[in-house]
Amino acid sequence: MDDLKQKYLSAIADASDEGALEELRLQAVGKKGEVSLKMRELGKMTPEERQTAGPALNALKDEINSALAAKKVALEDAALDARLREEWLDVTLPVRPQRQGSIHPVSQVWEECTTIFGDMGFAVAEGPQVETTWYNFDALNIPDHHPARAEMDTFYMHRAEGDDRPQNVLRTHTSPVQIRSMQAQGAPIRTISPGRVYRADYDQTHTPMFHQVEGLAIDRDISMANLKWVLEEFFSAYFGTKVKTRFRASHFPFTEPSAEVDIQCSWENGTVKVGEGDGWLEVLGSGMVHPHVLKAGGVDPAAWQGFAFGMGIDRIAMLKYGIPDLRAFFDSDLRWLRHYGFASLQVPTLRGGI
Ligand code: PHE
Repeated sequence: MDDLKQKYLSAIADASDEGALEELRLQAVGKKGEVSLKMRELGKMTPEERQTAGPALNALKDEINSALAAKKVALEDAALDARLREEWLDVTLPVRPQRQGSIHPVSQVWEECTTIFGDMGFAVAEGPQVETTWYNFDALNIPDHHPARAEMDTFYMHRAEGDDRPQNVLRTHTSPVQIRSMQAQGAPIRTISPGRVYRADYDQTHTPMFHQVEGLAIDRDISMANLKWVLEEFFSAYFGTKVKTRFRASHFPFTEPSAEVDIQCSWENGTVKVGEGDGWLEVLGSGMVHPHVLKAGGVDPAAWQGFAFGMGIDRIAMLKYGIPDLRAFFDSDLRWLRHYGFASLQVPTLRGGI
């Protein structure tokens, strides 16, 4: 019995994993294990022999069982220790550096516009970039064969062969949103519509995609005087300084009368400064909404009137932030974006407080 005890206790102590331990348990105290077989021999013994052998065998069985249990716990602890050592993480390590993104000047100026006009009571209305020719032209009093259609260098969308519906266009201006806003909400109305527009044109001041913000105000007695006040108020807030405007008579099919608006600026060594000097820079087209346009939007021209304007967002971004080449806006050059981009915390406020 001592031999058995020695044999199993040392084997258990040496067992390297739970599988080996289970093997030993079967060999020693399993149904056909050595200790179990010895217990079966008790029946053949004399009562005296049995009196000493019985308790000794039971004690041996208990001893082996508790050695097995203790070793099992020890193996589990060791496995956990090994896992903890292996999966150790230094949570105090600094994170890998990540470059911070920035807000594109167009997004920044877009927000500045909606903030300033919003403060003047204008709500934002947006329309689709792919438009029907009706919204982009006809409803705006630009009939077929009108020179304005050709002048806009329009991108026409493809139609499958045999599909004879009129081709859609990439909108050439944000003015179609005037019609959509009138149809959606009727008069009175005060909306601005920032968005992307498209024309087939490319040089230092033109890109095939650019941004405009459309303004529309319709009520019983809105006049050009209101237009002038709204625009001067806007430019002064936007540039953070009093800006004079100059209205030049012009022509758009969708406004009557029409005016192009210049803002006061100075030119020094090739740089423009807005709000000083005696130079002028054209920044938008505007006018009183043409009665045909009101009618197309479902608004009665006998009862309502108003102004509309369309301004280049990219253009006023270039002026305010001194960005020389429009094409660079859309090149996605990270060096340019880091230089001209804005931190996300530079939230636009009224009165040019950037
Ligand atoms: N849609 C005109 C353009 O793109 C601008 C404009 C808008 C003019 C509203 C008058 C009124 O040039």
